Amino acid sequence: MKKLTTILISSLILLSCNEDRDITVKLGTGNQTDTGGGTPSTSVYYTPTKAMKDVSSFPIGIAMSQNQASSTNFATIAKKEFNSVTAGNEMKFSTHSPSQGTYNWVPGDAIVDFAQTNAMRVHGHVLIWHQQVPTWVTNFTGTNAEFETAIKTYVTDVVTHYKGKVASWDVVNEAFNEDGSLRSTIFSQRLGSNYITKIFQWARAADPTAKLFYNDFNLESNVTKANAVVSMVNANSSLIDGIGLQMHISITTPSATVLNTIMDNVVATGKLIHFSELDVLVNPTGSVSSYDYATAIAQKNKYKEVISIYKTKVPAAKRFGITIWGMRDVDSWLKTNGSGYTDYPLLFGDGYEYKLAHQGVIEALQQ
Ligand code: XIL
Repeated sequence: MKKLTTILISSLILLSCNEDRDITVKLGTGNQTDTGGGTPSTSVYYTPTKAMKDVSSFPIGIAMSQNQASSTNFATIAKKEFNSVTAGNEMKFSTHSPSQGTYNWVPGDAIVDFAQTNAMRVHGHVLIWHQQVPTWVTNFTGTNAEFETAIKTYVTDVVTHYKGKVASWDVVNEAFNEDGSLRSTIFSQRLGSNYITKIFQWARAADPTAKLFYNDFNLESNVTKANAVVSMVNANSSLIDGIGLQMHISITTPSATVLNTIMDNVVATGKLIHFSELDVLVNPTGSVSSYDYATAIAQKNKYKEVISIYKTKVPAAKRFGITIWGMRDVDSWLKTNGSGYTDYPLLFGDGYEYKLAHQGVIEALQQ
């Protein structure tokens, strides 16, 4: 009988884990703080006492969507925790200009309105990227000179539209391959290998006061690629104000050693540094079947580590900020990660619960 009861209880625990990953394994007292001597916490959530923006000396950003701009739950946390906003998709080429010479400003303006209502900075994302490009650009049939005129017009019109409202732009995104060579895109092919310089010149002319960034992924883990970006930035030093490291990372990568080395290299440019799209995968290899306490702690520690490194390496005057790429796990573009596994990359649970990862950010910011 005792054995049967044990089996039944075990099955129930397993069942509850499978049914609702947000509940997690609450076998202990539910204490939210590990006091050292007492029962260790088993909740992946906690009750915060501080908001991120209030304990940070640099802006803390959130990537958001037009839909979220009208969500009360989203707005409540956004204005409490964050003081900078990036549009997740609303300021991309395919959203802005579905056909040549015509513009849809509605989604981007909704993000700007949200930010202004809540006293948040707007970081513009993104002027030129090889993804989310309208077909009139990819299928352009005119000459290279006509293409250049069309792209210059687009960049000028977008930057002019948001002038005075958008503090900064990711001007060019993801232009390099992993081996440090220039990625071949419609822009490199049509505008030439010096196209990055041209785009920055057009953006600068349209808004001389906006801070202009080069933005890319894997810069935090690939030294070769990061060095290629550093060389390009140094070669265009008068045009480029900052470097955005996207920081789509995991609990295992990058190591602190690699990130420290790379930060030394990017900081040596003297440019503003933005961790522009931070999220931390917990399940890159599929080994995590539910978001349990050990996973939550590993994720908390990684958030804490990378933010500590940012503060240690980047001089205060060069800290443009850290932007988290979405609010709840369910909002994340990586809720199914690149390897096809369910993941939990962000700071808030699907019901806006504060994850321990948030506590890791607070701890790093307060150090
Ligand atoms: C992502 C968005 O979050 C998704 O909603 C969209 O489907 C694809 O793009 N690098 C970038 C971002 O610079 O624009 C991307 O955002 C994530 C990778």
